[in-house]
Amino acid sequence: MGDVTNGKKLFMKLCVSCHTTEKDGKHKIGPNLHGIMGKTCGTIPGFNFTETMKEKAIIWDEKTLNDYLEFPHKFLPGTTMAFYGVKKAKDRRDLIAFLTTLK
Ligand code: HEC
Repeated sequence: MGDVTNGKKLFMKLCVSCHTTEKDGKHKIGPNLHGIMGKTCGTIPGFNFTETMKEKAIIWDEKTLNDYLEFPHKFLPGTTMAFYGVKKAKDRRDLIAFLTTLK
C-alpha cells in the first residue's frame, strides 16, 4: 500500500492544475477525479473525453492507473492529458493510494 500523505503531496504538485478531487468538484482541463477507483475510464458525466479514452473502456484499478500514469501517451495514444508521466514506481504507488481515498 502506498503512502497517502505523500500521494496527496504529489497530486498537489503534479495533477491539481488540471484535476479537482472533491465530491461534485468541477472539471478543469481534466475531469474531477472523485471516486475514480473502480470507474470505467472516460465515463464521468459532463466532461468531454477523447474517443480514445472512451473506446479504451477499462476499469481504473491499481494496475491500469499505474500503467496510465507511467506513460499516458503509450497506454492511451491520442489522449489529451498533456502530461509526461510519473517515472518513479513509488511515486505512482503513493499517488494511487491517494486516489483510492477519494470516495
Ligand atoms: C495538463 C493537464 C493534466 C495534468 C497535469 C494531469 N491530467 Fe489527468 N487528465 C487530463 C485530461 C485532459 C484528461 C482526459 C483525457 C482524455 O479524454 O483522453 C485526464 C484524464 C485523467 C484520468 C482518467 C479519468 C477518467 O474518468 O477516465 C485520470 C485517472 C487522471 N487524468 C489522473 C491524473 C493524475 C493522477 C495526474 C497527476 C499525476 C494527472 N492526471 C495530471 C489532464 C491532466
